[in-house]
Amino acid sequence: MSDVTIEPARDGDLAEILRTFERFWGDWDFPRPLHHPMFFCEFGDTAFVARRDGEIAGYLLGFVAPTGDGYIHFVAVRDDARTLGLGRRLYETFAAAAAQRGATALKALTSLENTGSQAFHRRMVFTDMTEVPDYAGSGRARIVMRRSLPL
Ligand SMILES: CC(C)(COP(=O)(O)OP(=O)(O)OC[C@H]1O[C@@H](n2cnc3c(N)ncnc32)[C@H](O)[C@@H]1OP(=O)(O)O)[C@@H](O)C(=O)NCCC(=O)NCCS
Repeated sequence: MSDVTIEPARDGDLAEILRTFERFWGDWDFPRPLHHPMFFCEFGDTAFVARRDGEIAGYLLGFVAPTGDGYIHFVAVRDDARTLGLGRRLYETFAAAAAQRGATALKALTSLENTGSQAFHRRMVFTDMTEVPDYAGSGRARIVMRRSLPL
């Protein structure tokens, strides 16, 4: 999509994302409270938004952990902008920023039911996908997905 720019996140982006949350997550509400402002303030160097016509059409929130993992906390593309390559472009931008800050691998999580996310991450060559029971202490399993860098 040539009319989309990938830019560092800026003031006001979190509020815009929360205002239009259902366009990214449908009726899944559990990610909402996990959109903590620290991803924009403390980890703003590794937070990116995709903009089309001045609106946020996708975003990726992440950081580089002391383990050397570039950790993707959330990636989401608006319902009208999916499968056009935006998720891939956000990952490419994050991977470059993370590698520049010393990351040697990428790590992301998803749920068992989020088969779309699993398919996307397989296409992004996350070769290590491991189901971990009770990963978050809530009694629910998560799929822990990893791949090495560079992308
Ligand atoms: C997962 C998500 C971010 C993917 O974003 P996207 O912009 O649609 O992905 P892209 O267009 O960059 O797709 C990259 C590749 O993954 C594939 N892909 C993307 N979504 C897919 C799906 N649901 N099923 C199968 N393949 C998929 C694309 O076909 C493409 O394949 P290619 O390499 O052969 O071209 C988007 O579907 C989304 O926001 N989902 C809701 C939020 C969510 O679940 N986020 C992930 C939480 S861990």
